[in-house]
Amino acid sequence: MCGIVGYVGDKDAVPILLGGLKRLEYRGYDSAGVAVHQGERIEVRRSVGKLMKLEQALLGKELHGHIGIGHTRWATHGKPSEQNAHPHRSEGCVLVHNGIIENYVPLRQQLERDGYKFESETDTEVVAHLINKFVKKGMRLGEAVRAATKEIRGSYAIAVISEREPDTIVAARSGCPLVVGKSEGAAFVASDVMAMLDHTRDVLYLEEGDVAEVGPSGIMLTDCEGRAVSRQTMKVTWDAAAAEKSGFPHFMLKEIYEQPQTILDTMRGRYSFEEGEADLPDIGLTNEQFAAVGRIWIVACGTSWHAGLVGKYLLEEMVRTPVQVDIASEFRYRNPLVEKNDLFITISQSGETADTLAAAREAKQKGARVVSIVNVVGSTLARESDGILYTHCGPEIGVASTKAFTGQLTALYMLALHLGRVRGVLSKADGKAWLERLVTLPTLVKRILAREAEVVAIAKRFYKKRNFLYLGRGINYPIALEGALKLKEISYIHAEGYAAGEMKHGPIALIDRDMPVVVLAPRDRLYEKTVSNLMEVKARRAPVIALVAEGERELGMTADAVFTVPDTHPLLSPILFAIPLQLLAYHVAILRGADVDQPRNLAKSVTVE
Ligand code: AGP
Repeated sequence: MCGIVGYVGDKDAVPILLGGLKRLEYRGYDSAGVAVHQGERIEVRRSVGKLMKLEQALLGKELHGHIGIGHTRWATHGKPSEQNAHPHRSEGCVLVHNGIIENYVPLRQQLERDGYKFESETDTEVVAHLINKFVKKGMRLGEAVRAATKEIRGSYAIAVISEREPDTIVAARSGCPLVVGKSEGAAFVASDVMAMLDHTRDVLYLEEGDVAEVGPSGIMLTDCEGRAVSRQTMKVTWDAAAAEKSGFPHFMLKEIYEQPQTILDTMRGRYSFEEGEADLPDIGLTNEQFAAVGRIWIVACGTSWHAGLVGKYLLEEMVRTPVQVDIASEFRYRNPLVEKNDLFITISQSGETADTLAAAREAKQKGARVVSIVNVVGSTLARESDGILYTHCGPEIGVASTKAFTGQLTALYMLALHLGRVRGVLSKADGKAWLERLVTLPTLVKRILAREAEVVAIAKRFYKKRNFLYLGRGINYPIALEGALKLKEISYIHAEGYAAGEMKHGPIALIDRDMPVVVLAPRDRLYEKTVSNLMEVKARRAPVIALVAEGERELGMTADAVFTVPDTHPLLSPILFAIPLQLLAYHVAILRGADVDQPRNLAKSVTVE
């Protein structure tokens, strides 16, 4: 996720652009840049690192002009570098972009055949050359943007300026947010309203396919066909702090609600329905190397380790290859029996967790090939791995991991599909069936989020309890662990996740009326056994919170509280069951007055042992 800004008016553009980018740094901060009309030319300044590096680069070499665009980057294609930083130029056209262009490779090949020279590894530069191609055919900038966006597939929010039209910014969106603001004699463009709150609270939100031609005298809106459209101007009442969280009270809740988008973004551009196959260009291993894999390891910490445990069930079911999952801090000191042909998967949101890094280095030393599922592009783990599968979740600010976790599960589903197809375990038809199920997940997650109030009601009944137990079976046993971790790390209530079948081997001694037990009961082949576990718990008077598949009636009468989860394939149920558990932990913690985004004693990334 990146942040884009634009300004046109009677003031000096750069200070306004930089101020807007500062407000958007939460969207990404591995590099930044601005472009300003300065006399005849558009001048560009870019830098790697946080925004202050760009401010330093501008010192003594200031840019002055009344129209410009800016960008703060969270890399998806191409490592963080000055060449890959935005804005990107194609002769007299300069552009900033947020989103993922899915068909940038064929477009780039065609543009190179047309004689365009590329300087970066980004998907974005393709759009700059495409627009420029139409401008050089004599189109106005607005027309050129409409023509170019017809050729791209994927998600974009763009702002473009051209030396041929020094008073206009053209902005367009599909799949990514874009807001236009206006004040006396000036106009603004941004990914998020908070970038313009210091200058105006009169904004209009572009809708899918909209193209806005923005100038000091006003804003002209059209659809992608060039037909005039009108969007309602709204008055923003949020303060800037609230706006940084898009109006949510905490980053954690905002990130929980981003999951339909981040699950979609992690899948986007990485599969072909026709082939029933996942397309993972940066995975680092050839199909032959994948076919020769003897054993798969998955090593991580915390929530990422829980994702790895889900990965075990998934890969062993879909790929029929043995999977060994380890906590990184245990693995690294065990002199583990890693073999040369092993596939070693590490999972890490930050890509900087010390134990996970050490485990990956140990595995490489023993000859395994390391593929990492990482959220931060260019992080240490990403740079040291043989192959990468990025989760396109954008910065995760809340210390308790939510969207990164479901992004990791999504990446594991894509990897399992790829491995299953390459190793001949899954047919093309199997692959298509999996993809059809996978693409429904964002909508199903939205349906769960729409029922947050039901989770609040459950939280209100149990937030004063001092101990919780979470029970799950099969692929949802790791989700019981994850639900318990979410609760304990932000509400400070002691919570344990357990395999439901283990109850009789000890934990059932703990059960009493003061220990709420959360039971995950998807409609899978273990459902009956889970129900009997639930009855055992109920018989000992513990309050039971049951998460069941939609349409389930029987448990409704037995459990003390029930939350239904949309039906999906049992192997995909972990993503759906994780959502209400994230919300439950969040609301219990709020009711207990805990600091949800910055829980005591915790760091977002554990970069030391
Ligand atoms: C998850 O809610 C925690 N913040 C923590 O367990 C985290 O998952 C763990 O520290 C691993 O971090 P990583 O994914 O950045 O490697």
